[in-house]
Amino acid sequence: MTHISPNAPEIAADAPLLFFDSGVGGLTVLDAARHALPDAPIVYAADFAGLPYGEKTEAEIAARVPALLGRLVERYRPRLITIACNTASTIALPQVRAALDLPVVGTVPAIKPASEQSESRVIGVLGTEATVRQPYVTNLAREFASDATIIRFGAPELVRAAEMKLRGELPDPAIFVRAVQGLTSQERAVAIDTVVLACTHFPLVQDELAAAFGRPINFVHGAQGIARRIAYLTRSQTFVGNGLRFVATGTASGIAPYIPMLRQRGFASFDTL
Ligand code: DGL
Repeated sequence: MTHISPNAPEIAADAPLLFFDSGVGGLTVLDAARHALPDAPIVYAADFAGLPYGEKTEAEIAARVPALLGRLVERYRPRLITIACNTASTIALPQVRAALDLPVVGTVPAIKPASEQSESRVIGVLGTEATVRQPYVTNLAREFASDATIIRFGAPELVRAAEMKLRGELPDPAIFVRAVQGLTSQERAVAIDTVVLACTHFPLVQDELAAAFGRPINFVHGAQGIARRIAYLTRSQTFVGNGLRFVATGTASGIAPYIPMLRQRGFASFDTL
């Protein structure tokens, strides 16, 4: 299989960057990318019909994500795909790269920057249940934080809370307390100074998590790093038309509650897949 070079002259100037997540969590990655590439045309795809990924099996995710991305590529002809989802990336990145003839940027838990920043050498990792059990996470910890204690907790309730917040609803504050206790109830947790937000939904509720901790914590996630990677891979490309399009699996009524928030972020078109 030949891969299109990111500098290939045949890339249409209006070919979008495609961002993909199970829901609206990937908007945290998109925000950083738009800051770096304000002129890029964007398609943001949410797999609402498959949400939440964190409670699915590895086999389900590894089958679902490449198939959906294949359909999205056919419809939108993107120049580059960003899987703005830790769960999908830590499980299905190899399958996606094998299936698609396009550059694919993944999102993996930001353990490396967290390790660079932690002074206490005790780092919390909050992700989905599927992400925190991945060998990928163990390997990142071994490679980049071998002298640190890594305390993991899978917090699916935070995904629901972040989705609610972006629909304009008010999530129960007890959700954030429970997520924080999932970390702080573990051995050595009293020394945690840095928490990796290893799910793209979680920066959307970072303030609520900070309040639930009740002491200063350095939260780290990968959005800026991913934005830099996208900017690097598209560095000599031209962008024309900076429209933002939103597409989701499921029904139009599933998208409707998010539209005010999406319009505020500059999205002008809404579609189902
Ligand atoms: N936003 C996704 C992640 O980064 C997963 C949320 C979910 O569908 O459970 O892991």
